[in-house]
Amino acid sequence: MKPSLGADVARDGINRGVAPVTYGHGDRPPRGDYASAATDYTCAQSWAGYTPEQHALYRRLYERQSAQLPGLACNEFIDALQHLGEPDHIPRFEDINARLYPATRWEVVAVPGLIPEEAFFALLAKRRFPVTEWLRKPEEFDYVVEPDVFHDLFGHVPLLFNPIFADYMQAYGAGGLKASRLDACELLARLYWYTVEFGLIQTPQGLRAYGAGILSSAGELRHSVRSNQPRRVAFDLKRLMRSRYKIDSYQTTYFVIDEFKQLFDATAPDFTPIYAEVRGLPEIDAGSVLPGEREFAVDRGTASS
Ligand code: PHE
Ligand code: CO
Repeated sequence: MKPSLGADVARDGINRGVAPVTYGHGDRPPRGDYASAATDYTCAQSWAGYTPEQHALYRRLYERQSAQLPGLACNEFIDALQHLGEPDHIPRFEDINARLYPATRWEVVAVPGLIPEEAFFALLAKRRFPVTEWLRKPEEFDYVVEPDVFHDLFGHVPLLFNPIFADYMQAYGAGGLKASRLDACELLARLYWYTVEFGLIQTPQGLRAYGAGILSSAGELRHSVRSNQPRRVAFDLKRLMRSRYKIDSYQTTYFVIDEFKQLFDATAPDFTPIYAEVRGLPEIDAGSVLPGEREFAVDRGTASS
């Protein structure tokens, strides 16, 4: 799930049955039935409404992605993937919750699609992860512009089983509500983008992916971990908040953490003075590296461009 920018129709983050305006996707409203969602944007997962073809498409997506995880995804992700349940059909969210809630007190909830930032933050702050109900079309097998049920489940839910990452996600939600009041959502969104969606982690075995946008992508998983093209720099909160990002191509910069606790610790301080400082500093283009900045090397012998 990725939040959309709040628009006039939902400036307060309350659903009034109209699709929110999103940024980065032109004028096209998001897909999904917003009329039947509650004021907090959650809806029922109409599991019976998925067709056999959709279950089969989910299975093909799952198979392609899970086959390339070894050596590219972090172990925490690989170990937790089983909790999504049988890979041959779209899971019932209630079945996932029967495992997730006891593990970390998180739940997944269905939403019609992209939702306004405030509504998104409010759900995360309550340890409720919004998962898009619909699945991409067959012709979108390789690429879908908006997050769908496959991206949201496969990419995001396994790490919600990790206690430290789970706490980080809740703190991010609370921090988002605060950033809304401080008019700092754009800076905070970069944190989400470069960690939750596109984060890399340094492990004893080498670089690995933990970001959902990478882990659910057919091509970017290998690209992010092995290609010589992108820049990879150490996670640094202020550096990251200054960094623009790409929404319609592979990332040209990735930020690398050492452990999940680093995310939690780095984001514990009050961001109010940090937002003020970062606003006074120049932005950094995606793909550019600052003088003296150390870059992470890809594994020798396995690199490819
Ligand atoms: N500590 C941040 C603040 O005071 C909140 C936050 C926590 C933001 C975790 C992101 C992630 O605003
Ligand atoms: Co996402």
